[in-house]
Amino acid sequence: MLRGKPTVLVVHGPNLNLLGEREPVVYGSTTLDQIDDQIQALGREMGLAVETFQSNSEGAIVDRIQAARGRIDALIINPAAYTHTSVAIRDVILAIGVQCIEVHLSNVYKREPFRHHSTIADVAVGRIMGFGADGYMIALRAAQTLIAASRAATDK
Ligand code: DQA
Repeated sequence: MLRGKPTVLVVHGPNLNLLGEREPVVYGSTTLDQIDDQIQALGREMGLAVETFQSNSEGAIVDRIQAARGRIDALIINPAAYTHTSVAIRDVILAIGVQCIEVHLSNVYKREPFRHHSTIADVAVGRIMGFGADGYMIALRAAQTLIAASRAATDK
């Protein structure tokens, strides 16, 4: 079981590097660097170690999650467009057996039908969407609760 400072990996999928300029009406005007700074600040406040990662490539996302095997207490992931297509990201979440929270800036159910399907929805503990960048902060708080519960359970 994991000991020491609880660690959370936050993964951002394709095109999220363009946040701030990408369809601001849908995704807001906060940049990814600003979101990562806010996540880091909240993580410090909560006593969590937080690692953040963005890639436009499905394979790089799978590699990064594999590299976290046995080292992280929770995964927060916005797989972006890969949400709707990626069996590989679903499989790696199951392969490393990590508790996972799915985040979307927009409420995908208010959008095109192809965005309504998520390959990871049923392997995530829960999903947060429609709150813009705040969704990541909500997810981090949820992760803290999950980690406290899972560490307490394995301490018994
Ligand atoms: C998104 C929603 C996806 O449908 C889309 O492809 C994205 C971003 C969101 O955060 O709202 O790139 O995951």
